[in-house]
Amino acid sequence: MKRAKITIVGAGNVGATTAHWCAAAELGDIVLLDIPQTEGMPAGKALDLMQASPIFGFDAKIVGTTDYADTAGSDVVVVTAGIPRKPGMSRDDLLSTNARIVGTVAEQIGQSSPNAVVIVVSNPLDAMVQRALQVTGFPPQRVMGQAGVLDTARFRAFLAMELNVSVEDVSAMLLGGHGDTMVPLASCSSVGGIPVTQLIAPERLAEIVERTRAGGAEIVGLLKTGSAYYAPAAASAQMVEAIIRDKKRLIPCAAYCDREYGVGGYYVGVPVVLGAGGVERIIELEMSREEQIAFQKSVDAVKGLVETMARLVGTPQ
Ligand code: LAC
Repeated sequence: MKRAKITIVGAGNVGATTAHWCAAAELGDIVLLDIPQTEGMPAGKALDLMQASPIFGFDAKIVGTTDYADTAGSDVVVVTAGIPRKPGMSRDDLLSTNARIVGTVAEQIGQSSPNAVVIVVSNPLDAMVQRALQVTGFPPQRVMGQAGVLDTARFRAFLAMELNVSVEDVSAMLLGGHGDTMVPLASCSSVGGIPVTQLIAPERLAEIVERTRAGGAEIVGLLKTGSAYYAPAAASAQMVEAIIRDKKRLIPCAAYCDREYGVGGYYVGVPVVLGAGGVERIIELEMSREEQIAFQKSVDAVKGLVETMARLVGTPQ
């Protein structure tokens, strides 16, 4: 069987680490691309990773490039390009710079890999994925954002740390944008099938939810020179795997919701079934009154972001 072709745009920390996880899991051949000004950097990282392959025993062709011609005919494209957050910056501060960067990337991908499934990771996520949809003109099923897998992973890690249990037994769900308004759903989160609400007192659970919401900022504050990359990259690799292996994983990701949840044509984090076709289904779950209010607040924040983006950089025809 022919190996899948995976392009990762942006060879910084998130991109290079995504290449690492994807290669180690033998998900396919990998093209790591960055802008021409980076010269040999993507090629150097790709060669270095290729030289790790005999040690761990993974078979993957990994190339680094600054030329979109090398990415032609990719099955999956992961877009990590953009500037990261600095301490004190919100994801929204990145809006206009990254909208321009993601717009350029999307234009190139649309031409060189017209059948690809696109996973956007760049921030502010929910606006960047809308930009990628607008510019590629791909069907919305093939353009999605990575955020929910990362955000639920943070929630799961914190729950496992709190209860001193294996992360493997913790499952969680959340909704909404990848921002401070995300809505971790305690009602849909469990440990070994036991609802988390039976294991952790409400006040403590509220603290863990709050820490999850601010999970990205906590890392930025510690690193000081950039944002998180191991977990964002692991989350991206899991989405690549779901698509390439047609696993039909039920996971949260930023999907284009029109009638779904009454969103009206924006990207927000919702549970989806992810397989070879991209977002194959959006699952509409029941929310408590409180969760509905929080979700609506998150959707409104995403709409505001997309409207600001249109004002700053225009809307492609
Ligand atoms: C985070 C950034 C990358 O959540 O959005 O860590």
